[in-house]
Amino acid sequence: MKFLKPTDPLPTLGRLEKTAITNGVVHLEGWVVSFDKKPLDRIQVTIGGQEFSNLEISHSLPSPDINKGYPNIPGTDKARYIIKISLTGQQQQLKNSLVVLTPIYQGRPGGIMPNVLDPSIPLPSQEYIKFVGDHFTDVAFDFLGYFIQRVGLEPNDKVLDVGCGVGRLAYSLAYYLTPQGGYAGFDIAEKLIKWANSEITSRFPNFNFQVVNIYNQMYNPEGNVKTLDFIFPHEDKSFELVFLISVFTHLRAKEVRHYLDEISRVLKPGSRCLCSCFLLNPESESAIAKGRGAHKIVHQLEECFTSNPKMPEAVIGYKEPLLLGWMRERGLTVVGKYYGQWCGRNRFTSYQDILVLQKN
Ligand SMILES: C[S@@+](CC[C@H](N)C(=O)[O-])C[C@H]1O[C@@H](n2cnc3c(N)ncnc32)[C@H](O)[C@@H]1O
Repeated sequence: MKFLKPTDPLPTLGRLEKTAITNGVVHLEGWVVSFDKKPLDRIQVTIGGQEFSNLEISHSLPSPDINKGYPNIPGTDKARYIIKISLTGQQQQLKNSLVVLTPIYQGRPGGIMPNVLDPSIPLPSQEYIKFVGDHFTDVAFDFLGYFIQRVGLEPNDKVLDVGCGVGRLAYSLAYYLTPQGGYAGFDIAEKLIKWANSEITSRFPNFNFQVVNIYNQMYNPEGNVKTLDFIFPHEDKSFELVFLISVFTHLRAKEVRHYLDEISRVLKPGSRCLCSCFLLNPESESAIAKGRGAHKIVHQLEECFTSNPKMPEAVIGYKEPLLLGWMRERGLTVVGKYYGQWCGRNRFTSYQDILVLQKN
């Protein structure tokens, strides 16, 4: 794991949405804006770790669809870019190559926009994509960008995906982690783990998925293991990164504390955890009271809050100081905090709030 200086990239919003190779030409299409309204100097392109400078690039193209999604962010009406790169003979073998675009504003990098060229892993069915929350490739590549740029993940690192679902994050990590690195994931939904084993592990043998029959009212009502009794099947100090994407948003307080114990145990000292959550603080509570955002997380259940008293596990949020206190008690220091869009904010790409923790 690379120890990043606490200098974040410039705040930007954007994605690399389409990648293709036709007749020896790479086509890349997406959109990007700077929150600080800075003009874009250029976009740096690396494919398979190699920088390409022979680009044909058009940017600041009309983007009414992006403006419709983010009407309050200046510049979203002219945010699209198209990049074309003519390959020489040796460069034609780019199947499964990770593409990373870095927008540069006045010499400084914004948020990276990863994607893959000609991926070998297929997409799961719509049923499985919906089960884990939709926006499959957007989430997969947004989080890969955060892992690289905000957590310092390196290609040879070992990672644990807690509540991995169908392997949405494995889908992008497969093109970043080398065979010396490795991925382990577990989840409570058997059918998703079966799919991930047959479609991802078969192609990337250093990616492993395990099912655990844990009870969750929403995701596995037939489960016969309690979250509190489950010990992660991994040695102490085995991972450089542990992550939970939209998992603490479905767990009760005692379960979150137990998982934090386990996370702290399996992380190497100095390594990191990234988790997404709904943080309740004066700003998000006031936004909820004003009717902004999708989730009214106002019904208290002991130490947590839900938007749905009939099915609390559907959406669970925590008072920020309480959750951060539990993390601190376990030697997990918050080194990055990014508030998401869920309650009407527009400052960061992610929907949920994101915390980056470092094991002391
Ligand atoms: C919204 S989905 C997100 C899945 C995955 N993290 C992703 O981003 O694609 C929440 C996941 O948490 C899993 N889950 C719920 N309770 C769990 C528990 N106690 N331990 C591990 N996973 C759990 C569910 O089965 C489901 O796959």
